[in-house]
Order: sequence, then C-alpha cells, then structure tokens
Amino acid sequence: MLLRREDMHPSVSDPEASSMNFLNEIANRYPNAISLAAGRPYEGFFAAQDIPHYFSRYLEYLEARKFSPTRMLMQYGRTNGIINDLIAQMLAKDEDIRVPNEAVAVTAGCQEAMVIVLRGICSGPDDVLLAAEPCYVGITGAARVLGIPVIPVPEAEGPQGVARAAKAARADGKNPRALYLVPDFANPSGACLSLGERHQLLAVAEAENLLILEDDPYGLFGLDDRPRPRLKSLDTNKQVIYLGSFAKSAFPGARVGFFVADQEVIDTQGNRTLLAEELSAIKSMLTVNTSPVSQAVIGGFLLQHGCSLRAANADRVSFYRENLNTLLKALGEHMPEGTTWNTPAGGFFATVDVPVIADVALLERSAADYGVLWTPMSFFYTKGAGQHSIRLSCSYLERNEVTEGVRRLAALIADQLAERDGLGNRAGAEG
Ligand SMILES: Cc1ncc(COP(=O)(O)O)c(C=O)c1O
Repeated sequence: MLLRREDMHPSVSDPEASSMNFLNEIANRYPNAISLAAGRPYEGFFAAQDIPHYFSRYLEYLEARKFSPTRMLMQYGRTNGIINDLIAQMLAKDEDIRVPNEAVAVTAGCQEAMVIVLRGICSGPDDVLLAAEPCYVGITGAARVLGIPVIPVPEAEGPQGVARAAKAARADGKNPRALYLVPDFANPSGACLSLGERHQLLAVAEAENLLILEDDPYGLFGLDDRPRPRLKSLDTNKQVIYLGSFAKSAFPGARVGFFVADQEVIDTQGNRTLLAEELSAIKSMLTVNTSPVSQAVIGGFLLQHGCSLRAANADRVSFYRENLNTLLKALGEHMPEGTTWNTPAGGFFATVDVPVIADVALLERSAADYGVLWTPMSFFYTKGAGQHSIRLSCSYLERNEVTEGVRRLAALIADQLAERDGLGNRAGAEG
C-alpha cells in the first residue's frame, strides 16, 4: 500500500521535525565536523558498567523494604511510577520543593511529561498554550502532535509580555491554559529569570488564571552557586507544573523524566484528586508505565548520592561551567567585529547574532568547508524570526574542541562578511 504524505497528520511533515532531521542528517554527512549544535550531555561522565551497579543499589533498597523485586521490576507496574518517593525527596533536598509522592509522575523522559500534561490541561478547540519564544522544539512539537495551537511570547518581554499575550489571546476568543518556559538557562537562548521576574511571573499567572509549565533540565548547571529558586518552590498558589528530566543530570538513554502536578482537580460531585493522579489515565494509554528497569537504574543513582542530584552532579557542574566559560572566552577572542552574543549565567547554550543570514545554506557551507556545526536560531521561532542568529552548544565537547569550533565559526563569518563587502575569499578554516 502506498500512503500519501498529505493524507497524514500535519505533525509528520512538521517543519520543526524536519529542521531537527536536517541537523541529524548533516551531522551524519560530516562526522568529523565539530558539533556546536548538539545539546547532548558529555559522554565522559558515562560508564555502561555503572548501570548494573545502580540497578543493584535499587534492588537492595527494594529488598530492605520487603518489596518483591520480581514483581516490582518485571511485572506491569504502577502507572505513575515506582521511584516517586526518591524524586520527592530529591526535590525537597535540592530545590526546597515539597510535594507528596503522589504529586509526582515518572515518565519516559521529560518529553512524555510534556505530552501528558498538554493533553490533560487542553480540552476545547479554543484552548491554547503560551510559550516563551525562542522555544524548545520538544514542546512545540508535542503541541503540534496534539493539535494544540501555540502562541509565542517573546522571551525578552518577560512577565508583562505574558500578561499581554494572555489578554490578547482572550480578546481573540482563545483560552490560554498555560505558559511553557525554561526559567533557568533556557534552551535555546541560555536566558535566566531574575528572582523579581519569578515573583512577577507567578503573580501574572495567578491574575491571568494560567498554569505555568516550568521545564528544568539545566537548572543545576549555573556558572556560580547563587541560589535561583525554582518557580515551583515559590508556588504558594499551585500554579506551577514542574517538568523534570534526568537526561542531563544522569543520562538520556535511561529515558526517565517526571512531572510534579500537586494541583487539586474537583469533579461534578465535589470529589477532589491530585492532578498527577488524574493525568495517569493519559499516561496509561501512552506508555502504560515507565520502564521499571530504567526507573530502578535512576532510583539507584539517586540512592547512591543521598537523593541529591546536586551532589550527584558536582563533577558535571564544574565541567559544564568550564565549557561555557571556554565558549564565551573563545567568542571574545575570535568572533569578527559586527557579531554579538549573550553571556548566559549557566547551562549548555549561548546565542550569537551575526550580520549575515544564518540559514541552512550557511550551515551546509560551514560543515563542508569549515568543519563546524551549529544550529540556526530560526529553528526555534514560529514566524521566520532569528534569521541572523545562531545557537551554540558547549555540552558535548572537550574544551579544546569548543575553542576550535568557535575559531572555525569565526572564520566562516569573517569570510562571509568579506565576500559580502567584495573583499574576496579567504581559505576555509580547515583548508
Ligand atoms: C528544554 C528541554 N526540556 C527537556 C529536555 C529533555 O527531555 P528528555 O528528558 O525527554 O530527554 C531537553 C533536552 O534537550 C530540553 O532542552
């Protein structure tokens, strides 16, 4: 049978999905290029032999509590997970987020948490999601799969922009249900909310009757130890659904993430349940339950470190700090005049504004002639913005590769500018 692509759901031919496929495809075609595109964690922290070690640690924990490991790990399991207690302890210890175990649902990566939460909170055709833009493609892609419209809110407009967007959406007959953002070291911009903005945002959410989807994969990786309270820890009115991932703080292959939804849901008879428990109906139809084998490995990882991700990540934190500092230093040393960049306070990403169009054609040239990959920022905007902007990631590389990658990028941009100004072509950085 031959299927016509145009008969399939629009998410199949989603331009964002094809952007990401293009990045993977170009990385495969130029395997020796330095990738400042990949937001993957550094593999030097991974050792496959740790997996059985963490698994055994969790087995011991189950046995000490007289649970049957066979039943717990080999049978179909509880929909919302088995390591909820350890995650709740971790959140209390690391982030001062205090929630009952039942408010935590363990998911197949943060990606599944996004799908479950969006599906659960958006019901009618007028329900929309507000999302800080530039925006992580995982949430816009999830919304597209579910047919939920996304209204971008320029990140730079802050909490006032959110209030404006919510009001404008309502005036347009829409029902904004939630705002999605990454408050700490966002992907792709690296931006971070100040404490004042966090309080303002919570006030706006309350006034506009919005939930906040706080996505926090990078919060551990600040350049300094300054406390940056999570929105969820400041959330006295239960506006915030917290989205967690172990992809960067443990390892992405486990495919374990979670969400915290301690909001109450009331039915027509006045019965109340926790939102996380309500949403388990959706999870049961997506993945039944998150692999208990994977949960056991992450559970063992948490137990090994006294249920503190911060403690578990001390080495990673210093590695990523040095890499981001290296990236920022290399930009200062190598980028030609006319380029500017932000200086994130942490995380995996920085953005560079260049006086040329940073599109896939330039990326192709960059890979072929200069041996460096990066991500066009236009991939993270809904309506053609970000044409002159590049996302650089420094998480996957050794420090010398970060510096060399920036040097190559600088050569590409300098040559583009020289060509534009009719000054001819210099040799490619690898030439
Ligand atoms: C903003 C954001 N959220 C979530 C994730 C991680 O999702 P998962 O736990 O599904 O790997 C990432 C990974 O790149 C991300 O950048």
